[in-house]
Amino acid sequence: MNDDVLESQRYWDGFAATDPLWAVLAFPDKSDGRWTLSEFMKTGEREIALLFHRFAELQLPMPTGRGLDFGCGVGRLTQALVRRMDRVVGADISPVMIDLARTLNRYPQRAEYICTSDAGLELLPERSFECIYSNIVLQHVAPDLSVRYLHEFFRLLAPGGLLVFQLPSHRQAQADAEITAMPDAAYRASIELAAPAPSQVAAGSPVALTFTVRNTSDHEWSQPRFGPLALGNHWLDERGELMVAQDDGRAPLLQIVPPGMSWPVLVTIRAPQSPGRYMAEIDLVHEGISWFEHKGSRTVRFPIAVAAAGPTGPASTAAAIKEFPIPEYPETAVPRPAAAPADAPTKARFPMNGVHRDQVMEIINRHGARLAYLEEDRRAGPEWVSYRYFVAGRSWRPASPAV
Ligand SMILES: C[S@@+](CC[C@H](N)C(=O)[O-])C[C@H]1O[C@@H](n2cnc3c(N)ncnc32)[C@H](O)[C@@H]1O
Repeated sequence: MNDDVLESQRYWDGFAATDPLWAVLAFPDKSDGRWTLSEFMKTGEREIALLFHRFAELQLPMPTGRGLDFGCGVGRLTQALVRRMDRVVGADISPVMIDLARTLNRYPQRAEYICTSDAGLELLPERSFECIYSNIVLQHVAPDLSVRYLHEFFRLLAPGGLLVFQLPSHRQAQADAEITAMPDAAYRASIELAAPAPSQVAAGSPVALTFTVRNTSDHEWSQPRFGPLALGNHWLDERGELMVAQDDGRAPLLQIVPPGMSWPVLVTIRAPQSPGRYMAEIDLVHEGISWFEHKGSRTVRFPIAVAAAGPTGPASTAAAIKEFPIPEYPETAVPRPAAAPADAPTKARFPMNGVHRDQVMEIINRHGARLAYLEEDRRAGPEWVSYRYFVAGRSWRPASPAV
């Protein structure tokens, strides 16, 4: 174990021994043992329910086989993952966290916990996990070590598996919130459907769509400098001549988009109330300034038939969020903080780190994987630009034998 890893392990062990639930989810009003176990575990169920809902929205294959929860802490997310998957491994550097996770394990046949302080993830077999998830972990890990873990994740990911991780990129530049027009030449984008749109939907129902957006201009789109930019929509008549609805869906763009960058954007629009044949049109908008089309950029259009909603109301085209009931947990199962020892780590001083988005993208590309979605993330706090990366692993095929 190198010194960084040893120090990190001691650090998390210290918290795990005194106020473990708050160490995992450091809500200010929950320090000093103020989480109840059941409300704490419920946050894990909610988070994983939303994660699987997002998989459905992105039309990604639903993982059901083996999962890995990296940096599992006391198993808040591992336990929710195993309610949806056959087997899940929770891995953490802190033996004290791992002991607690084992105590709280309600699915011992299918969930197991391993401590990574000695061998890291090396003992886990390659291409063995259909889904790897890591949340609010890599932000506390030294950048070079995070990069090593990212490569490890790709070694462990099964062909076509899903890797989702949260990782800060860099510190936020000072924001200037004023809305100012960009140069006209900056309003150039290409927008393409990243997954097929439904050809028919029910009147009034939500329609989740994913697009690949590219900044085709020579200018940086910077929201801190110019104000909010978003993907939005219009509903046009069948021939695409008359606008029927101005817009009903908005997806914010990334805060900073350099020239040439492309990434997936998910937006949910709402079908018109009157049945008929429509043309959906998607464009970018600089809020308070202009739609990109009005500055000369091209929109994307595709036909959608809208059918009457059934007697029970509009059929939804978006998957429902499915939450499972959580088992009972005795409140005495985790230590409650007594008076903090004099040498206890100072609260609210979790180490924070990032790996730049460009470097992460380079690693994803190097492994032949596809970025299915990039979500701006607030978990690292307001001073960080941070993301949750949804990555679809490449479909691996053995090299064909020589003839
Ligand atoms: C804030 S907690 C999050 C726990 C869990 N992901 C959740 O959201 O419930 C961070 C966890 O990451 C673990 N951790 C920190 N560095 C790690 C590393 N290098 N390898 C594995 N786990 C690590 C800590 O021990 C701690 O349990």
